[in-house]
Amino acid sequence: MKLNLKNAASFVSPITLQATMAQTAAANELLESGKGAGNDYIGWVHLPSSITDAFLNEVQAVADELRKRCEVVVVAGIGGSYLGAKAVNDALQHTFDAYQAKDRKDPYVVYAGNNIGEDYLADLMEFLRGKEFGIINISKSGTTTETALAFRLLKTMLEKQSGKAEAQKRIVAVTDAKKGALRSLATKEGYKTFVIPDNVGGRFSVLTPVGLLPIAVAGHDIKALVRGAQEMEKLTGTDVPAENNLSAQYAAIRNAIYRFGKTTEILVNFNPKLHFMAEWWKQLYGESEGKDNKGIFPASVDFTTDLHSMGQWIQEGQRTIFETVISVKNASKSVVIPSDEENLDGLNFLAGKRVDEVNKMAELGTRLAHVDGGVPNILIEIDKVDEYNIGQLIYFFERACGISGYMLGVNPFNQPGVEAYKKNMFALLNKPGYEAESKAIQARI
Ligand code: PA5
Repeated sequence: MKLNLKNAASFVSPITLQATMAQTAAANELLESGKGAGNDYIGWVHLPSSITDAFLNEVQAVADELRKRCEVVVVAGIGGSYLGAKAVNDALQHTFDAYQAKDRKDPYVVYAGNNIGEDYLADLMEFLRGKEFGIINISKSGTTTETALAFRLLKTMLEKQSGKAEAQKRIVAVTDAKKGALRSLATKEGYKTFVIPDNVGGRFSVLTPVGLLPIAVAGHDIKALVRGAQEMEKLTGTDVPAENNLSAQYAAIRNAIYRFGKTTEILVNFNPKLHFMAEWWKQLYGESEGKDNKGIFPASVDFTTDLHSMGQWIQEGQRTIFETVISVKNASKSVVIPSDEENLDGLNFLAGKRVDEVNKMAELGTRLAHVDGGVPNILIEIDKVDEYNIGQLIYFFERACGISGYMLGVNPFNQPGVEAYKKNMFALLNKPGYEAESKAIQARI
């Protein structure tokens, strides 16, 4: 992985950049020493290097059992208990996986518990009717409403459809070691379980069974994914000086740009398979940094698709944005543009080129145009979209997020603001224990 700051550094003063670069060392040290805010949630810092082959084999064995028994596996979870697995699976699987019915070797992996859409759940249950399906239920707290609600419906359906004994073999719970309703339920029902370590928060948990199990079920190589993350852990440690430390550099430049009034960062891809990597990234940075009235707003676009929707705003709208482009050096497949005798579409100038060459020129042209339009551009280059590179990218962003959060002066590992909507929702639904809130909220509506 490479990081190119040339078209971003030109937007900030060298003194500011030097200052933020220098600050990364202290912030990285704070992560390492465990003396910073939220230090009970920094188990992810050395998570990759602590993962053993034996552990990955255990995850793989449970995944293989689900793969053997199920044609569909539903992954129930939300936020950090969903986005990492979805991001990696989408990046690695065939774009039209959902439509590939014949000769499948992998089960369909679908997702639930990440919304409360009645139509979504009804459609999902229709899809699952008559199919051999299983459930991976993921919730660290074990009490999240969206996930628990979906699980109640799906568990009931599975038990009716396949019998309680078979359902028990097809349900895996990933949750806290001791606490929460999901832990009690899994113990009572005798489900296979995996533990989410106490000191790893949801949005930093993709390299625990939260992400690894659904990724293995989908047929991807979790060992290569972890290897990539392990490599990046070495490249971003406190012993690597800021000028060579990829995560420190990214944290330094985005904070320098922020100090120059650019308050929105747009993560850009030119490969639609990375759409959900950006959704994962938005949660990682949004929930970690957006507090105490501070924080860069994380947004994302898929190019060139969104050049035809958001391109105008990015080129000429309010100058409060900067872009971070994930550029993939090599496409995994090759499609060559044919020549056409009549050339009615005027595209013969592209004949013989690979589609990726066109995409690359669109990427370069867009980056330069946006820089000319006043949008600083950070460039992250990865070799290709595979397990190893995605593993690197995950840890790179996590480490940079921890560093950046400490530089901003916030606790990057809590999310107190998420509770506000839950309190109102429970009050409005008359959940026992919320009587006072119910009364207060009724007076407001
Ligand atoms: O990052 C976080 O902590 C959150 O996004 C959680 O992952 C999310 O709210 C789901 O929580 P839980 O895993 O407890 O169901």
